Amino acid sequence: MSDNLFTPSGPARSWDELRADALECTRCRLAEGRTQVVFGVGSPGADLMFVGEGPGQEEDRQGEPFVGRAGHLLTRLIEGIGLTRSDVYIANVVKCRPPGNRDPQPDEIEACSPYLDEQIAHIGPRVIVTLGNFASRCLLGTKEGITKIRGREFPFRNGESVIIPTFHPAAVLRGRGEALAQMRADFVIAKRALER
Ligand code: URA
Repeated sequence: MSDNLFTPSGPARSWDELRADALECTRCRLAEGRTQVVFGVGSPGADLMFVGEGPGQEEDRQGEPFVGRAGHLLTRLIEGIGLTRSDVYIANVVKCRPPGNRDPQPDEIEACSPYLDEQIAHIGPRVIVTLGNFASRCLLGTKEGITKIRGREFPFRNGESVIIPTFHPAAVLRGRGEALAQMRADFVIAKRALER
């Protein structure tokens, strides 16, 4: 896998500076339409991190990732492996809502990627679960579809972390029960990776 947009590096500023810079970011056009920047939520010392695509309408309103219907499913799946939202860290590839929930564009991802890079560098998660095609392709630099790569472990940050791709909870809500069972199984794989 190659061409990652995300290049793991050391943190360039403190967590508080990073957050403060992100909250007033105007690096791309998404700043114009947002209500607020959705930086991330949870423990900055977490061993387990989730990365989604970008804030939706409810996240833009509340300033927190995954608080809509898909977020409720994500919360239930996290609780299903014996953890809570405050035990993990949840962030997105882009921190501002793309208008009409369209996919983030390459220049928007590039402008935003230093924030996620630095979040990962600060948190140093042992396991990163990427939610859906979009986040998985961005972090792994692959064009493979989520159905093919889900539930597998991919080394990241020189082997300091593993990425485990799974479905996006919104896709599971739209789909049939089989995807939910597969997503649950992927969470168990993540839990086992944490216990190693
Ligand atoms: N979908 C995402 O990818 N991220 C969110 O925060 C909410 C929905």
